[in-house]
Amino acid sequence: MSARNSQRSYGRIARLFHWATAALILIAIPLGLVANRLPYDTAQQLALKAQVFSVHKTLGVVVFFVALGRILWTLFETHPVPLHPERRLELWLARLVHWMLYISLVAVPLTGWVHHAAVTGFAPIWWPFGQSLPFVPQSEAVAATAGAAHWVFTKLMIASILLHIAGALKHHVIDRDDTLRRMTRGINAPALPVPARRSALPVMAAVALFGLGAAVAALPRGEPVTQSLTAAQPAPAAGNWQVSDGTLGISVTQMGQQVSGSFAAWTADITFDEAATNGTQGSVTVSIDTGSLTLGSVTQQARSADFFDVTAFPQAVFIADILPAASGYQASGTLTLRGAEVPVTLPFTLDINGNTATMTGQTTLDRRDFGMGATYTDEASVGFGVTVDVALTATRQ
Ligand code: HEM
Ligand code: HEM
Repeated sequence: MSARNSQRSYGRIARLFHWATAALILIAIPLGLVANRLPYDTAQQLALKAQVFSVHKTLGVVVFFVALGRILWTLFETHPVPLHPERRLELWLARLVHWMLYISLVAVPLTGWVHHAAVTGFAPIWWPFGQSLPFVPQSEAVAATAGAAHWVFTKLMIASILLHIAGALKHHVIDRDDTLRRMTRGINAPALPVPARRSALPVMAAVALFGLGAAVAALPRGEPVTQSLTAAQPAPAAGNWQVSDGTLGISVTQMGQQVSGSFAAWTADITFDEAATNGTQGSVTVSIDTGSLTLGSVTQQARSADFFDVTAFPQAVFIADILPAASGYQASGTLTLRGAEVPVTLPFTLDINGNTATMTGQTTLDRRDFGMGATYTDEASVGFGVTVDVALTATRQ
């Protein structure tokens, strides 16, 4: 039994690659299906879901590299001839399915990986080489399209595998030929048939099917992609400063990893004077549309009743006085969020250049003060501290 293929048989290396990828894929598929459907209502459920996803992703990345090795190896190998070259339609179908399998071996893990790299947080790949990918930006839109492509491609892959297994069984049980044995035991086919003329149609059909799948994945989805993470809504001109641009971001530690996101819709009424009156330099009212929050891959959880509960509490409001502080200023007031009123101080620096002011500030809140994530009683799944980062540019009115 040779390590290499011949016209009559599959060699040891080709068979090892075939069965190794087959086994990995047949484990990765149920893991993906199960992980996607596991509930995440409690901390324990979330931890389990994240673990199953991490196994799925880690295995998927292994598949990707094994598949690349397999494809490279196949390029330099003799291709065993079909046992029934005269059955043109059957051969055509078998080739179409083989091409579908080869394409899905790359396209499925790659789209999963791009989806993962485009969002922060939740279920890391268990390896030391980082979680991002070159040329893949942190972007909700990229993540959504790659996720949809992963979904469509896994369906094409599953259909191809089912057809492939059905074909192998048909050869074994109905035709009673050596097709399956050639792949399991590497035996030589009894006679050496004349190789059939290879048509390019099966590969073209396979590429077209995946192209169609990619087009379906790229279709706009029902829920519009959230606005740019950095887009602040201009504030109504109630104060004497008008916000022209800014970000209101939050970060939290989730499963030991930092996840960052921001609110796309918020307004700020700012009254500010360089000269203090009665020790106060002005006031600010910030209104935040909680439903505009995106937080990496845990956006849905963050918006849910457990955390921001955006349906019941669509608005959060911070009303504060602007006071001088040791290094710059501080906004000191009350944050009303999720029905709780909590005193909050936000230290910030201010750079005024003519009629333009640039402000950056940071503070840390404790999610428990707002009754957020009450079932997540320790920090293993979601940290207690939530860092709030504000950066904005405003123009004097
Ligand atoms: C050949 C390897 C892979 C196979 C066969 C595979 C298969 C699947 C399947 C069947 C699902 C469930 C789809 C559904 O619910 O109908 C899924 C979901 C998912 N997979 Fe994979 N996958 C692979 C590789 C990867 C990799 C490498 C990653 C990331 C590094 C990944 C990330 C994901 C994610 C994030 C989901 C959930 C998508 C969502 O939110 O809808 N997968 N995968
Ligand atoms: C229980 C599951 C499986 C069985 C019984 C099976 C059986 C076979 C057999 C008998 C062949 C040889 C066909 C021939 O000589 O014309 C073959 C080839 C092939 N199989 Fe599978 N297979 C299985 C799973 C998979 C999976 C999961 C994949 C990949 C996703 C896969 C990918 C391929 C490919 C790409 C070829 C063509 C090899 C070549 O280039 O000649 N198979 N398989």
